[in-house]
Amino acid sequence: MSLIRSAIDFVSLRPWRWVSLSVVAALSITYLAAILYLVWAYPTITFSPGDETKPIVKMPDDFLFGTATSAHQIEGGNDKNDWAAFEREAGRIKHGDVSGQACDSWNRIDDDIALMQELGANSYRFSIEWSRLEPTDGVWDDAAWNHYAGQLKKLKAHGIAPMVTLLHFTLPHWLAQRGGATAADFPEKFGRFARVAAERLGPDVALWCTINEPNIMMYFGYVTGIFPPGKKSNADAVHAFAGLVRAHAAATVALKQVAPKAKVGAAIHLVDFEPKQRWNLADWGAAHAAASAFNWAFCDSIQSGHIRFNAPGFPSINEPLPACAPVDFIGVNYYRRDLVHFALTTPGLIETGPGPGEQNDLGWEIHPEGLLVLLREVHHRYHVPIYITENGLADAHDTKRAPFLRQHLHALQRAVNEGIPVKGYYHWSLLDNFEWAEGFEPRFGLYKMNYKTLSRTPTAGAEMFKKIARELGTK
Ligand code: GAL
Repeated sequence: MSLIRSAIDFVSLRPWRWVSLSVVAALSITYLAAILYLVWAYPTITFSPGDETKPIVKMPDDFLFGTATSAHQIEGGNDKNDWAAFEREAGRIKHGDVSGQACDSWNRIDDDIALMQELGANSYRFSIEWSRLEPTDGVWDDAAWNHYAGQLKKLKAHGIAPMVTLLHFTLPHWLAQRGGATAADFPEKFGRFARVAAERLGPDVALWCTINEPNIMMYFGYVTGIFPPGKKSNADAVHAFAGLVRAHAAATVALKQVAPKAKVGAAIHLVDFEPKQRWNLADWGAAHAAASAFNWAFCDSIQSGHIRFNAPGFPSINEPLPACAPVDFIGVNYYRRDLVHFALTTPGLIETGPGPGEQNDLGWEIHPEGLLVLLREVHHRYHVPIYITENGLADAHDTKRAPFLRQHLHALQRAVNEGIPVKGYYHWSLLDNFEWAEGFEPRFGLYKMNYKTLSRTPTAGAEMFKKIARELGTK
């Protein structure tokens, strides 16, 4: 009773109290309406138990199904790039590992193609190593170009369609010394490299990927500093972002001029950022900000022809891009979901961490539903064909790889059923390999590497890959 009495006393005959009550009520209703809208517009997707075991029933006829690798991680003997120098610095790579001979794939490409045959793959995504092909500024190494030309011929002879990546993290040492992604002439040099690649390899390449994960190059190279050049400067990060956008544009223009029939795209690392607390509007805002800056800034820039980057704590950039042919496809590299929390005490106001699901050996949450969420978003934003250019997990005990593969293909099947133009899937990776700052410890391969004998042994994941290849009828 006394509570009601006090409430009546509070509001009676005092207009300012009515005003403040009305403001509080209006704000609460707006907050509630916003949360209800977001929860309705972005429902949590949960696959039903058993969904992930269903066989693949329908994919486009020209669907590509294969594995992905990158030169520096598997070839061995790459000592003319920025990574080789970085690996020699104390404390940079876990256990002091250096890429060294890696999987010796430079000399064992025949063995690797035999593995692709065994898997029933009809495509292979790999990168060509810029520092081998142009070891000195403007000087081309014919033997190295012939090596990749030979590799393309071998793939063709085995009915394996290549997707060739021009830049997968490693920059020639001569370019890194002048500032790498922040060097004023990086776009021009990369454009020239792309032109020569199209001239020398073009006839055998229908799919080009300009840059692999420019967003990872920017954040790991310039924000966290765990990749070369090992900087921690938001200003340099934005500078590198602009350089990467311009370099992609220069390469796209060159590839389109020399090989007009080829399809050109870029591969972006996409994380399924979701609010940690779905009733907390600040967490929705934080998840949105994380996705805008990390997932979408690069593709938004190349597709709109306008370099734009805006994120809390970073200088903004907003400049027109002189020339850029829009991409023919977007490559999606998908590994995990992160839950995002708005935290006043954290620099950048954003805290991220894995969700509650099962994790891989690197602590990344395994969340196949996130692939469907991201495919819907990529389709909604860009309306171009999509390839899953990487998807995989570190799983040394090989207990999670087979179900992981099945579940992610299930997500993809659902996306295709919804009319999303997904044209192919590349599993990361064919072999265990040099996992950058994590060294050789994480095991991402469908084939397990013995780094002493260089033998390759199939995992349970390889068996699942073969089964799915049969369902897809790729071979
Ligand atoms: C990607 C990268 C690959 C590989 C993979 C597994 O970000 O493109 O090179 O390292 O992650 O972590």
